[in-house]
Amino acid sequence: MISDPSLIADRLDQVRSRTLELLSPLDEAALARTPDPILSPPLWDLGHIAAYEELWLVERLAGRQSRYPGLQATYDAFETPRALRTRVEILDASACYDYLSSVRADVLEILDRADLSGTGDPLLQDGAVFDMVVQHEAQHTETVLQTLQMLPAGDYVPPARRPRPPPRPVGTDPVHLPGGEFAMGAGSQGFRYDCERPEHPRTVMAYLIGRAPVTNGEHLGFIADGGYERPEFWSSEGWIWRTESAASAPLYWELARDGTWLARSFDLIEPVDPHAPLCHVSWFEADAHARWAGARLPTETEWERAARLDGRDGAVFPWGYGDTHTRANLGDRYFAPVSASVYPGGAAPCGALQMIGDVWEWTSTEFDGYPGFSAFPYREYAEVFFRHGYRVLRGGSWATQDVAVRSTFRNWDLPQRRQIFAGFRLAWDNPEEQR
Ligand code: AVJ
Ligand code: FE
Repeated sequence: MISDPSLIADRLDQVRSRTLELLSPLDEAALARTPDPILSPPLWDLGHIAAYEELWLVERLAGRQSRYPGLQATYDAFETPRALRTRVEILDASACYDYLSSVRADVLEILDRADLSGTGDPLLQDGAVFDMVVQHEAQHTETVLQTLQMLPAGDYVPPARRPRPPPRPVGTDPVHLPGGEFAMGAGSQGFRYDCERPEHPRTVMAYLIGRAPVTNGEHLGFIADGGYERPEFWSSEGWIWRTESAASAPLYWELARDGTWLARSFDLIEPVDPHAPLCHVSWFEADAHARWAGARLPTETEWERAARLDGRDGAVFPWGYGDTHTRANLGDRYFAPVSASVYPGGAAPCGALQMIGDVWEWTSTEFDGYPGFSAFPYREYAEVFFRHGYRVLRGGSWATQDVAVRSTFRNWDLPQRRQIFAGFRLAWDNPEEQR
């Protein structure tokens, strides 16, 4: 594995440009607000991005002092949980932007002198800790977009939003996967999170998986069939959630006077696109829809097997390496999911479409460590969330940057959450093909 410092510097620079571009429409007051206590004010995310970079690269790696030792706790995700982030004293916007750029200047100098040759410190192996910082910032740009989507229509207008490509017809028959053993989890290339490791053998029974994620059109069928009113489709926990939340459609959907469903994406309120993947549903809704459809959610093992089966087991993406621009809806191009017909080149070898990008996909699996898990470099990234009822999501969304997702990447959230850009695909047992 080559670890070229100039490539690392490029990645740091690219993700930073994105952060600054996404936040550029927001003034001080808008940056300091959050629409919901489950999310942070964007200004906190910004300071947290700087503090995280400073902690790992300036303090831990280079052994220097923080610029704001007194603020490290404020910007620590655990010491200052989301619900408190509007109540603590944080840097104002101009100090925060200065903090980001001065930390970055130090980091580029530290990178220049770092020994990435792979001897010694596992944090430095192939530039691992630098890539961890890149992925961290990219993850927070997605969190910030969740916050901005939750604001009232028009409070945030996405910059440089490209027109969505029109849908073309696409086959939607499920994909058959044979039973067998495969290697699950990340191997040794690049920085991979501890929860993606170690690579280990898994065996699956034959199954079928949806060629593409469930679409809005299919979910309109669930609604029209009384899906939200019929407890027989819901788990008992799900029905409690549905009753307490009074949910009757995905988040951000509303019924127009003429009976059509509208969906809001930031400043746009438009008729629901039946061809686009369904987004902003809870795990409970996904589970109920699947039962209504005579299906179930895939396990995360089934999801990863579909993304990786073909012998190119070590590849980063279902199609191989790189090329995300032409193969997946990632990185805030349209600020929305698009039809499965748009990126045929992103198909997995098994034929499944849109495994990467568009919408995160809920799986039936509860988040836990793989056999042989060992926390690296800190327990609070993943381990503290194991076995607390979080469900695994796979594949990234339109708001995920390509550096922050791959076939082995695992995301997680609570089953009632709908602010994330998440949908799901269906799966079925296949008793005939078992071997
Ligand atoms: C992997 C998206 C669940 O946002 O809580 C950001 C990512 N970890 N900073 C989260 C993360 C530390 C994490 N998720
Ligand atoms: Fe973070």
